[in-house]
Amino acid sequence: MLSEQQASSVATEATTTTNSNIPKRPVIPIDYTNKVILAPMVRVNGLPFRRLAARFGADIVYSEELVDKKLIKCKPVYNEKLKTIDYIGHDGNIVYQVEVVDKESDSPTASQKVPTVLQLGTSSPELALQVAELMIDGYDAIDVNMGCPKKFSVKGGMGSALLRPENQENAFAILRALVKGIQEKHGKPVTCKIRLLDTTENTIELYEKLQATGVTAICVHARYIPQRPREKAHSHLVDPVSKITKVPIIANGDVFKPEDIDRIKDLTGCSSVMIARGAMWNLSIFRKEKVLLDKLVVAKELLDELIKYNYHSGLSKYILKRMFETHAKTKLYERLAKCKGFDDLHKALHFNDNEDLSKELTPEQIASIPAEDDEVDLAPRQKKTKHE
Ligand SMILES: Cc1cc2nc3c(=O)[nH]c(=O)nc-3n(C[C@H](O)[C@H](O)[C@H](O)COP(=O)(O)O)c2cc1C
Repeated sequence: MLSEQQASSVATEATTTTNSNIPKRPVIPIDYTNKVILAPMVRVNGLPFRRLAARFGADIVYSEELVDKKLIKCKPVYNEKLKTIDYIGHDGNIVYQVEVVDKESDSPTASQKVPTVLQLGTSSPELALQVAELMIDGYDAIDVNMGCPKKFSVKGGMGSALLRPENQENAFAILRALVKGIQEKHGKPVTCKIRLLDTTENTIELYEKLQATGVTAICVHARYIPQRPREKAHSHLVDPVSKITKVPIIANGDVFKPEDIDRIKDLTGCSSVMIARGAMWNLSIFRKEKVLLDKLVVAKELLDELIKYNYHSGLSKYILKRMFETHAKTKLYERLAKCKGFDDLHKALHFNDNEDLSKELTPEQIASIPAEDDEVDLAPRQKKTKHE
């Protein structure tokens, strides 16, 4: 087990090269039908989490939402040791990291074969395109977040603000700019992720307009904009939309167990589903065998990945705690909550007290646990590196 300091040196010792030597990412054709997809999750979906999702069997993985104003200040640097492109922010911390796809390699890793979608938070067609161009070697498809109801997104005209009638023209302009500048020019698909509007007629009208922008797929989170995750998704309301649209619709909401995948497909009429919390709680939900693995085994694998990629230990703790929020009343959760660094996290997961973890809290019970967002907002994603 690496200490936090040792883990840090994995990245700092790496030989790095500058922008001009960044390997070109080959175009991976993406078919959005019949797929099980890792949903975007802020603070959770860094490279370690996405890699493990791909290893378990996710067909497509999304990044967390990253805001265009932050990405535009990033500098791409090739990390030869980890074989990643690291997008370094103005403070020297890694904002986004992606594995290099080596088309020549005889044995690409599972996560090199699985397409990575960069999710953008944006309210500007010009800036969205500029960022998408800057990051062209860091993703296989690009998605615009049009569903986030949080204050931070909405007050900047991003997320679900783009679905307001007065902002919809701007939303279509963003998508048209990306379709022309990225999808048509570079062959990388453009998609968007939205929520249900207040009536099915309005949702259908919106879909038709979104489709007309030329996007390759549309993901619908089957909740109305003001709805909280503890409220049940209205999956059946996606069905009338998926029946009429020509571009594939990806259904999102309430897939918590492997058997929910087919249930949600039936309810929505969609052939592809996207999973957020179900994956955060147990990434083995993507296994083609459709049987979950022991959560502790999955958590230990995730911790190894977080250390390998030099993740910030505070954020690693956040991810592991969110993973075990389904067990918020257990001793294991208490141990995780007290951790101060990678050694503690390692000990907490390997502590052998044979505690019974078979009982899980329901999504409704979990929603009543106070969030700790503010604490984590302050933490950088990954430690500073000496790339420059
Ligand atoms: C921790 C967390 C972070 C999220 N971050 C994002 C995000 O960055 N972008 C986005 O479009 N949705 C985000 N969401 C919403 C999910 O992608 C998804 O739409 C929602 O949780 C419903 O899916 P589920 O029922 O499978 O959880 C987030 C959800 C969670 C739980």
